[in-house]
Amino acid sequence: MVQLSLPKNSKIGKGKHYSASRTARNVRRVRVYRYDPDDSQNPRIDSYDVDLDSCGPMVLDVLIAIKNDIDQTLTFRRSCREGVCGSCAMNIDGSNTLACTKSIAEINGDIKIYPLPHLDVVKDLVPDLTHFYAQYAEIKPWLQTTTPEPQGEWKQSHHDRAKLDGLYECILCACCTTSCPSYWWNGDRYLGPAVLLQAYRWLADSRDEASGERLDNLEDPFRLYRCHTIMNCAQTCPKGLNPAKAIAKIKTLMIDRQV
Ligand code: SF4
Ligand code: SF4
Ligand code: FES
Repeated sequence: MVQLSLPKNSKIGKGKHYSASRTARNVRRVRVYRYDPDDSQNPRIDSYDVDLDSCGPMVLDVLIAIKNDIDQTLTFRRSCREGVCGSCAMNIDGSNTLACTKSIAEINGDIKIYPLPHLDVVKDLVPDLTHFYAQYAEIKPWLQTTTPEPQGEWKQSHHDRAKLDGLYECILCACCTTSCPSYWWNGDRYLGPAVLLQAYRWLADSRDEASGERLDNLEDPFRLYRCHTIMNCAQTCPKGLNPAKAIAKIKTLMIDRQV
């Protein structure tokens, strides 16, 4: 019989509990994943009773309230607080999303918060995105041209500009990529939905002149063809984008150039 052993630090232990003050009237329990690779302890789930009357309406507001008023050791990323920078992506109530745009009112019962899944954890709710960004760099996410630069800007018709709708809005939060089962198993070689959506963003740009090289770079059994249209990516994207559709369009371009 095959025997499997869990990797070191994979078991989640019982954490600390922080009660709310006696005067708090609108208390909600928030369960948060805690892990500090430097203290050689296993991860744990800490629970905080937060008075919702003393913080804003979003999950990020709750995390900020915990950090400011209850436990300054809690670590998470955030910047814009309005769904633009992508840095507060985490797993909330079982789904990957942005803490700053996820309303507490949408969650029933305890608020459960984990880091984005299937990534190494830097600390608490901060995932290591080094590999994700390296894969993004691989697709050369910038305008590539061979014709001489125009005097002014590279022009684009309204019709061609509209082809970038549903692509340019991506904020690279990695919610989709870390919800993709194919990426969980093959993330070392499969580029994943976010990076492939970005790859299509440049293939769809009428001003770009490197489509051939871009497709050559993606023509690989792992980089592109690990997408099995499971659609977790489209379901989870907090910006309402559909990376699976962009991946399907890249596959169509691959076929078109062979006929
Ligand atoms: S496609 Fe959506 S979920 Fe994926 S990285 Fe872009 S914004 Fe985030
Ligand atoms: S549709 Fe493709 S990219 Fe999206 S979650 Fe499924 S396998 Fe991953
Ligand atoms: S803080 Fe910028 S997207 Fe949430």
